[in-house]
Order: sequence, then C-alpha cells, then structure tokens
Amino acid sequence: MDAVKIKQRAQEIFPEITEMRHYLHAHPELSWQEVETSKFIETKLKELGYTNIKRGFGGTESGVTADLVANPSGPCVALRADIDALPLAEQNTCAYKSTEESVMHACGHDGHISCLLGVAKLLAEMKDQLPGKVRLIFQPAEESGKRSGAKEMIAGGALDGVDAIGGMHLWSFVPTGIVQWKNGPVMASADGWNAVITGKGGHGAMPHEAIDPTIAAANFIGAIQTIVSREMNPVDTVVVSLGKLLSGDAFNIIPPKVELVGNIRTFNPKVREEMEGRLRRIADGIAAAYRCTAELNVDYYYPSVINHAGATDVLREAAKAIVGEENMQESPLLMVSEDFSFFQQKIPGTFYFVGVGSKEKGTDYPHHSPHFNIDDDGLPVAIAVMTSFAVSMLEKMSDKTFKA
Ligand code: NI
Repeated sequence: MDAVKIKQRAQEIFPEITEMRHYLHAHPELSWQEVETSKFIETKLKELGYTNIKRGFGGTESGVTADLVANPSGPCVALRADIDALPLAEQNTCAYKSTEESVMHACGHDGHISCLLGVAKLLAEMKDQLPGKVRLIFQPAEESGKRSGAKEMIAGGALDGVDAIGGMHLWSFVPTGIVQWKNGPVMASADGWNAVITGKGGHGAMPHEAIDPTIAAANFIGAIQTIVSREMNPVDTVVVSLGKLLSGDAFNIIPPKVELVGNIRTFNPKVREEMEGRLRRIADGIAAAYRCTAELNVDYYYPSVINHAGATDVLREAAKAIVGEENMQESPLLMVSEDFSFFQQKIPGTFYFVGVGSKEKGTDYPHHSPHFNIDDDGLPVAIAVMTSFAVSMLEKMSDKTFKA
C-alpha cells in the first residue's frame, strides 16, 4: 500500500474512528485505572487478528500489547499510544462529554487510542506486504508522574524483541493537519524536589530563643534561581520552580520547620544529573548560615524525550508523503514532559506531533484545560502518518546497514 492508498483508507475509516474517539472521550479512566479502556482495546485487536495479546501491566489490569507478525524473521517496529485521562471536571458541552465526574480526557489520549486502533486496522489489511513485525503498545499512566506506565510496561516485557519505536501526540497548539518533527531533544525531563529546613520553634516575640527556619527558606528560594542565572551555561535550558511552601500556623509563633516542594526541567541529561547536588549545596549552605539544618531529596520522574536521527528521518519522509512538505514543521523545544522517553532509553525511536487545533471549532485550548478538545479532522492525518511510518521503518530496518 503506497502513501496515496494509505491516505485513502485512513479517510474511509474516519467515521468509525471518530465514533470510537467520542465513545472513549465519554468514558475516561485515570492513570492505572484504565481497565474498561484496556478491555475495549483488547476486543478490537482480537477482531483485527492481532496475536500475542497481553493485558495488564504493573500488577494492574491496565495496558495492552499485541503483535502483527507478517514476517517472523524480519525487524520489529513498536507503535505506542498512551491511554489515561486526567482528574479534571470537563467544561465542554459536546454530546460526547465525559460521563465520569471529575475525570476527563483533557490531553487527547482518547484520540491516541483511536488513531492507533485505526493504524492497527490498516496494517492488518496490508499484512502480506510487510517485511517484519509490528508491536502495538497501549500504555497506561502517562500522566501519573510518580509511577510511569512506560517504565512498568518495559519491565513487563513490552519492548522484548522490538528494534525501534514511534509515538505521536495530537497537539492543540498546532493547526489541524500539520506534522511537527524534531531530531534530538524535543521534550524536557521532569523531576520533583522537596526540602525541609529545620530550626527551633518558639514565641514570635522572642526570636533570640528560637531558630527561625522561615528566614533560611526565604533565602533558599531566592538563591536557587541563581543556579539558572549564575551557574549554568546560558545555552543550556533549565527551569527550577517552587510549587509549594509550608511554614507555620499562627502570627505569634516561630515555626520549627519549613517544607518546600518544587520541580526541575531540562533537556540535557548531564545537566539533569548535576541539579540535585546544586540544590543540596545551596540548601545546606544557607541552612547553616542561619543555624538551621536542611534535608533535600529529588524524585526522578521522566527523562527528556531525545529523538534518534534514523527513526526521525524515516518519520519525516513518511509524513511528507502523506501531508506534503508545506504541512511539515520542525517542532520547537517543549518544556513539558512525556514518559515515552523511557522507551527511547532502551531502543531508538521518534516522538512527533500532529496538529488538531482549530480556532473555528474551538479546539485550540491548551492541553489539560477543562475546555480541551481535539479537531477530529486531524485523526485521518495522524492514522495515515503513523501507518506510513511503520511500513517505512520495517522496510528500512530490513536493510541491515540502516541505523535507526
Ligand atoms: Ni498527553
């Protein structure tokens, strides 16, 4: 099936894919609770003749992998869709709005599931032309932060026997039908830090009898911004933010301790590694200067999404054949994160964006907004591009000299 035929088939299955998307949108499930969603996916894949279907990862009933084996001795490409929704009350009034209280597909993962099921259908139709195998990965808990679905699926064997991977995000910041690609880093790492600065509580009228941790905390908050402005190479992009500050209970009490919580984002893995030491040095030094002690911990969530050149080149060519050069754009660097990066730490892969933003249709709200929605006209584009990518990757990887 060539690009023209793939495009045509993607357009023909558009009504059933849209219907599926609306059904999934109306029935969202939170991270690690995507049981009905996973059963829905499993049923569809069985109907399409996929084999080696596994449902349930990380000790839950969420997540599905399945294979299409055209040539058992050929290469294997994986395609990934994330499937979880967010704890958010939907404020859209569309007919298919969420039926669950305070749960909403506000990031477009309902679209990701529908698109990958559309791709599954097209690939099954052209099975006899494929020179290898396809592994579909329907991943739970992309939004969970602390317990990544990607990480758990890898531990559960989702990448066993896979040579390369592709993943896509429908993107409301970009007009419908535009494809954005990028080689190298594209999305930042996301880590959380927390600090406790301890002094000695006392009466607000007698500071000399107490050791005030709030003063140390206030200085610490200002000082950590000098990591970005005075310690880092200005060409490296780093964000250090404070998100939560807890100190004291009453106007006349000096509290015994202050708790601080924040996050760190960057693209460069080496810079990421150094941040914990930098934060701790400042916390310890400032605490000591004010007779306090500090304890600082970093929770490592998601590495940065770093696309591999070979896979990205294949994606660019495959997407260009579908949407034309005029609808291709290089993606800007994005400070948001994706746990797709865990897959890319194991095998080569590329992560790209397909526009679903339309001002007229009101689908240009940011992701994670209670008004978020996607322009369904972007779905056939996304299906055709991913199908074309999978076919091209298998063809390229059949040549042993190709480096994904
Ligand atoms: Ni998302």
